[in-house]
Amino acid sequence: MKRILFTNEIIQKRIKELAESIDKDFKNEEIIFVCVLKGAFIFTADIFKSIQNKNCTIEFIRASSYIKQESSGSINLINYLETDINNKNVIIVEDILDTGLTLKSLVEFLNNSKPKNLKTCVLLDKKARRKVEFEADYIGFDIEDKFVIGYGLDYDEKFRNSSHIYYLSGK
Ligand code: IMP
Ligand code: MG
Repeated sequence: MKRILFTNEIIQKRIKELAESIDKDFKNEEIIFVCVLKGAFIFTADIFKSIQNKNCTIEFIRASSYIKQESSGSINLINYLETDINNKNVIIVEDILDTGLTLKSLVEFLNNSKPKNLKTCVLLDKKARRKVEFEADYIGFDIEDKFVIGYGLDYDEKFRNSSHIYYLSGK
């Protein structure tokens, strides 16, 4: 069973606003966007296209912790960065901020390279689920504590290719 939460149209509208904030904050300064695979690949593509600043590059990192609907607690990182982020503006792009464990460990990991500026941009924020203190800099939507799928987000690797975001229920 699934129930629609955000249509693709609403998502695109919000992404334009987030991109405008990023453009306002960084003007034409160089930015390295770091897409957190796999969940953020669609969101990253859309926000990256909406950024007017053309002094931007894209890199990828893989983080995983979830098994079906449960966070396993330990974060596996695979680093695909092909550029040195030392002294650069970096924005991590993630699909959803949940317990905060993934972004916290990603920020710690990337901070080892001493970027000039490290920001985080998330499409969804489930504040009620936080296990570690963490606030993102750019947030698409705050959502309640329910499992969501679509627009890159998966349940057991499925449903990433839905263009809308749905609540998954019926457990
Ligand atoms: P955190 O480490 O608990 O903050 O979890 C972040 C990661 O968990 C995200 O990158 C997602 O891959 C996954 N996740 C958390 N909540 C959901 C959800 O409702 N649907 C799908 N994936 C989720
Ligand atoms: Mg993810």
